[in-house]
Amino acid sequence: MSYPYQIKNIEQYHRDYTRSIDDPSEFWSSVAEHFTWKKKWDEVLNWNFKEPKIEWFKGAKLNITENCLDRHLEKLGDTPALIWEPNDPDEHHRILTYKKLYEKVCQFSHVLKNNGVKKGDRVCIYMGMIPELAIAVLACARVGAIHSVVFGGFSAQSIADRLYDAQAEFIVTCDGAYRGQKDIPLKSVIDDALIGNRIVKKVIVTTRTRTPVSMIKGRDVWWEDEIKKVETLGLTDFPAEEMDAEDPLFILYTSGSTGKPKGVVHSCAGYMLFTTYTFVNVFQYKQGDIHFCTADIGWITGHSYILYGPLSAGATTLMFEGVPTWPDAGRFWNIIDKFKVNILYTAPTAIRSLMGFGLGPVHGHDLSSLKVLGTVGEPINEEAWHWYDEHIGKKKCPIVDTWWQTETGGILISNLAGITPSKPSYATLPLPGVHPILVDENGKEVEGNNVSGNLCIKSPWPSTIRTTYDDHERCRTNYFATYPELYFTGDGALRDENGFYRITGRVDDVLNVSGHRIGTAEVENAINMHANVVESAVVGYPHDIKGQGIYAFVIYQGSHAQNTHGTAEMIRKDIHQTVTRIIGAIAKPDKIQFVSGLPKTRSGKIMRRILRKIAEGETENLGDTSTLLDPGVVEEIKNGKL
Ligand code: WTA
Repeated sequence: MSYPYQIKNIEQYHRDYTRSIDDPSEFWSSVAEHFTWKKKWDEVLNWNFKEPKIEWFKGAKLNITENCLDRHLEKLGDTPALIWEPNDPDEHHRILTYKKLYEKVCQFSHVLKNNGVKKGDRVCIYMGMIPELAIAVLACARVGAIHSVVFGGFSAQSIADRLYDAQAEFIVTCDGAYRGQKDIPLKSVIDDALIGNRIVKKVIVTTRTRTPVSMIKGRDVWWEDEIKKVETLGLTDFPAEEMDAEDPLFILYTSGSTGKPKGVVHSCAGYMLFTTYTFVNVFQYKQGDIHFCTADIGWITGHSYILYGPLSAGATTLMFEGVPTWPDAGRFWNIIDKFKVNILYTAPTAIRSLMGFGLGPVHGHDLSSLKVLGTVGEPINEEAWHWYDEHIGKKKCPIVDTWWQTETGGILISNLAGITPSKPSYATLPLPGVHPILVDENGKEVEGNNVSGNLCIKSPWPSTIRTTYDDHERCRTNYFATYPELYFTGDGALRDENGFYRITGRVDDVLNVSGHRIGTAEVENAINMHANVVESAVVGYPHDIKGQGIYAFVIYQGSHAQNTHGTAEMIRKDIHQTVTRIIGAIAKPDKIQFVSGLPKTRSGKIMRRILRKIAEGETENLGDTSTLLDPGVVEEIKNGKL
């Protein structure tokens, strides 16, 4: 069965695209007709990018969980909503039908309410990839609380910063999480994050690894005990809170080019519509298909294409707790065969890392259930694209290269599987409702084809970022002020002779390491916290598997080679430890080069362009270095390159 708003051929794509740009209100209201509303809207779209103010379906009332759960119960009650594959292949998988998931979400909604959670409250969720994570997210949405999921790889300090920024009063977590051979003590990280915190009132803890945890009286409660109380009362329903279309649904923190991570805010109606619409159209989902998105729910991809998009479409979504390389590098292929997965959506970095194991782990797997492959998170190189196409898709599965961002909520540029053409390393064409343009440094539109520039979007799509939490001005300056009247993505792109877009990467100081966004300023701040570090500069460099690696140039007080703190290697490890404490292991520099100075202009600005070139292995053509305060330092840095 297909969906009323499903694009069936390329002619329809062009028709729908034109319609959506000519009259967005007419187009999106026709899509919105196919959702469940408690009350319909007064106005479809009201916007200006100056403030920015973006309102979709103003006046409408809804709850996104009624769209993800209740409305499917009659027809799909016994259909699997969520398939969960554990980290350990010997442990039993779990299947939650729509009916079961509905009941679990309702029960946990009672738990949230019993613990004092109300509409508008911020709930931080820090969990491993277990069904309870999905349940917690949906229960927050059901009671109208604003969830803020924090990826399990972030440190206590990062959580503390996010808790403070969101003024969160509640936390949902696990005792621990399994990831491959590792067992990560999440609750203990939360305990560290809560030292000195006077805002958090309740921490709800579910059991996964049964690691010993400290449970503080009056603050910490066990998930299982709380559920038992609800079960004793026989409660299996929970009335969904009535939300305004523009009420915030969630906050998700993401890195920018400056300072601390920003709390990107998405609102209920527009986000729901756009994630569902793009899920159905990009992957060409057909009822009954099994969709496997390998992202973590701690990132936007997991929010939009493991949970909200698929569930709102009544799809079967597969959630995997572990990692692609454990117990061996055939794990994804095992899962695909085990559940007869139809759609696989993963990251180029995962493909490249699996390629590194050769074809051995792929052999012996059937993979014939696959119909569509997808990638997200970073540019995919042609070699990885062809490997994916040949060895996984067996040249019969269209590959969708989906470009989007935390701030965009859903996919903005991608081919539609089997409907519009693909081109290796090109995201290709915009989705209906999305109006991309390229601009030059001065903000002047670059027209025509075979051109490149900075990628901007001209008008709002339903899941445009609404604000950055508690700091609207930051949202304006970050995204809407670089080029007046445009949303600036921070990415560079080129447009080929067919009008297809190829995303070339960030043009700001944001790195993309294994598909994770990391701000160079954030990493520098963390390194600079380390005693004896005088100053540092961080840039990205091409990395075979991660896409980009982190290269840090560090001035260390006293000579690093001969000092009381041990060898350079020991000091590198110390710095790693500091970065792991301040941000998390994902931000550890791959290379640390000790230098005696950094290339600076006379006004004291670090010339990153030069450092980036050196890190990339370029030794000639470093550009004009005559304006440097001390041009000699460049020679030293070049000679010491790692
Ligand atoms: C990059 C992830 C090339 C891009 C959904 C963007 C991509 C950043 C692609 C957002 C793609 C994402 N091709 N680059 N298909 N998809 N990117 O917020 O630089 O974690 O700005 O959202 O990832 O990362 P984020």
